[in-house]
Amino acid sequence: MANSKGRVAGKVALITGGASGLGAESARLLAAEGASIMLTDRAAEAGQAVADEIAAAGGKVHFLTQDVVDEARWIEVVAETKKRFGRLDILVNSAGIGGFSELMTMGLADWRNMIAVNLDSIFLSMRYSGPVMAEGGGGSIINLSSILGKVGTPGASHYCASKGGVLMLTKAAALEWAPLKIRVNSVHPGYIETAMVQNALREIPNGNEMRDQLITKHALGRLGMAHEIAEGVLFLASDASSFMTGAELVIDGGYTAA
Ligand SMILES: NC(=O)c1ccc[n+]([C@@H]2O[C@H](COP(=O)([O-])OP(=O)(O)OC[C@H]3O[C@@H](n4cnc5c(N)ncnc54)[C@H](O)[C@@H]3O)[C@@H](O)[C@H]2O)c1
Repeated sequence: MANSKGRVAGKVALITGGASGLGAESARLLAAEGASIMLTDRAAEAGQAVADEIAAAGGKVHFLTQDVVDEARWIEVVAETKKRFGRLDILVNSAGIGGFSELMTMGLADWRNMIAVNLDSIFLSMRYSGPVMAEGGGGSIINLSSILGKVGTPGASHYCASKGGVLMLTKAAALEWAPLKIRVNSVHPGYIETAMVQNALREIPNGNEMRDQLITKHALGRLGMAHEIAEGVLFLASDASSFMTGAELVIDGGYTAA
């Protein structure tokens, strides 16, 4: 492919949340850099469209519909990845949900749904992918946390708790699996221009005002772009980061520097 340096050539990557935003952009970049991609998402049509686009550009890719909170489906997805591509070297956990909810009025169901989709899913993902990676001699796991896994914000306590959980799950797994040569790192984006942020801002009454406020919290004076996060994912997926595990890759335009 044009401009490819083959930074993940010959590797097999499983990417969740691949129908949109950071998962889709990471899939495009990893495919362009030579990886075979198993792309999954609960959004079947949009996910297949991303896969078709990658294939049309010359990438190796297959799409599977997957709800990441479904344990039985994880077993099938990992088995299908092994069957189709023979191994698993890279796991990118990007499926997730956002949203605002006040702690004084939040229902237990909303809390549980956030924790299930953003945190339980990463446990399931690592639990069933880990053995296949270990069998192949190791690999790299990249978990999408957030700046809100490191610092709090009002109105999103369920999201912050889920992403803080991802941060610590990553560190514990990194220590447990270092002897297996499985590296596990987390990525902490600032606010990025994807459907997640755009929809969340659309759903609140003062969305435009909120967007302006958010921009001022990023020292670089803008929100991030999906490709700026995908570059970090590629770095962690590739052998360029071979001495990194249990680390937090913060890509936030300076949000957490203040
Ligand atoms: N966009 C940001 O500003 C930002 C910032 C920090 C962290 N993140 C994190 O990065 C990840 C990707 O976010 P994004 O901005 O690309 O969001 P997005 O909404 O554009 O994409 C998320 C994808 O996950 C899928 N998904 C949601 N629930 C699922 C489920 N149960 N099973 C399978 N797929 C499911 C959606 O269908 C969607 O395609 C998320 O974990 C998010 O929390 C995003």
